[in-house]
Amino acid sequence: MSGRKIKWGIMGPGNISRKFASDLIQSENAELVAVASRTEGKAAAFASEFNAARSYNSYDDFVQDPDVEIVYIGTLHPQHKECVLQCLNAGKAVLCEKPFTMNAEEAEELIKVARENNTFLMEAMWTRYLPAVVKAMDWIKEGKIGEVNMLTANFGFNVGWAPDSRLLDKKLGGGAMLDAGIYPISFASLIFGTQPTNIKSSAQIGETGVDEWFSALFEYGNGKTAMLNSGVRLSLSNDAFIYGSEGYIHLPNFLFGEAAYLHRPGSDVEAFKDDRELHGYIYEAEEAMKCLREGKIESSVMPLDETHDIMKTMDTLRKQWGLEY
Ligand SMILES: NC(=O)c1ccc[n+]([C@@H]2O[C@H](COP(=O)([O-])OP(=O)(O)OC[C@H]3O[C@@H](n4cnc5c(N)ncnc54)[C@H](OP(=O)(O)O)[C@@H]3O)[C@@H](O)[C@H]2O)c1
Repeated sequence: MSGRKIKWGIMGPGNISRKFASDLIQSENAELVAVASRTEGKAAAFASEFNAARSYNSYDDFVQDPDVEIVYIGTLHPQHKECVLQCLNAGKAVLCEKPFTMNAEEAEELIKVARENNTFLMEAMWTRYLPAVVKAMDWIKEGKIGEVNMLTANFGFNVGWAPDSRLLDKKLGGGAMLDAGIYPISFASLIFGTQPTNIKSSAQIGETGVDEWFSALFEYGNGKTAMLNSGVRLSLSNDAFIYGSEGYIHLPNFLFGEAAYLHRPGSDVEAFKDDRELHGYIYEAEEAMKCLREGKIESSVMPLDETHDIMKTMDTLRKQWGLEY
């Protein structure tokens, strides 16, 4: 334990909030004190399941709870902006689910408010904190694969024909890129430490008007590239390969961080396997709590400017497909 417990609230107690909460309550640094839903009865049931002291049927009432220090926002993408603003304006620190916002303009607005209010804000890009991904980054920093020249990363699954689901309904922020594609895109940003200088891409826009799957080639200059694929109506092998001048790293099912393998010519394969029992959302929560304890208003692992830059890259992709929200 690193000092007093940080008091959390959760806004939007849906699928991902349930997984997040089940990890959070295992942390000796955290206490879940309040839950808010606009749907009558839902917050109370969630609070009782995770032993939170209070529940609210209104976001307005929830953000006035003086006990809540930091809010995890698990609402749908189009609601992130309003939820984050409500929290920041009530003086609450925020950990907001991915995608941070619908576009770069919204992201810029939230970052400005957080900085003006001197309040902590972070995108919940949980994959960055997983031990297998941290191990891969350590290998890269130690020069184990030499100069990184190429990345391939996929995340795709097939939700089937479900036009009213949040994954396909345009009004709910549907589409592969905002839900799934953001993982390989953010991963490319982590690996290369910058955004591409040139992007080539192609998307399948389905009947509901959203991208059902897409492929993108990111170019970084000097021959460095990332080939990224994603889908919500196409199952993919969700692996990442990071290729360097002296070897490569394989991350099977990369966004869940199950394992990392270091391949170098003439050496045995070095393996890192993560046998965690929790989902893995605990690591992003611990990072947010560490920042709060240190008085920081943003994380150096997922900096706000990088979140904004990633949203700009995603805007560029959608522009290539003629897709606007
Ligand atoms: N990090 C991850 O691994 C991961 C995994 C899945 C999803 N996510 C992200 O988490 C967010 C929530 O996804 P989810 O699958 O958890 O969503 P969900 O369970 O369908 O809904 C979450 C909350 O969004 C609100 N909501 C749901 N349907 C709505 C609708 N039709 N209109 C308006 N509000 C609605 C509800 O808030 P109220 O309770 O207040 O009504 C609900 O509790 C998304 O942005 C997604 O990208 C992240």
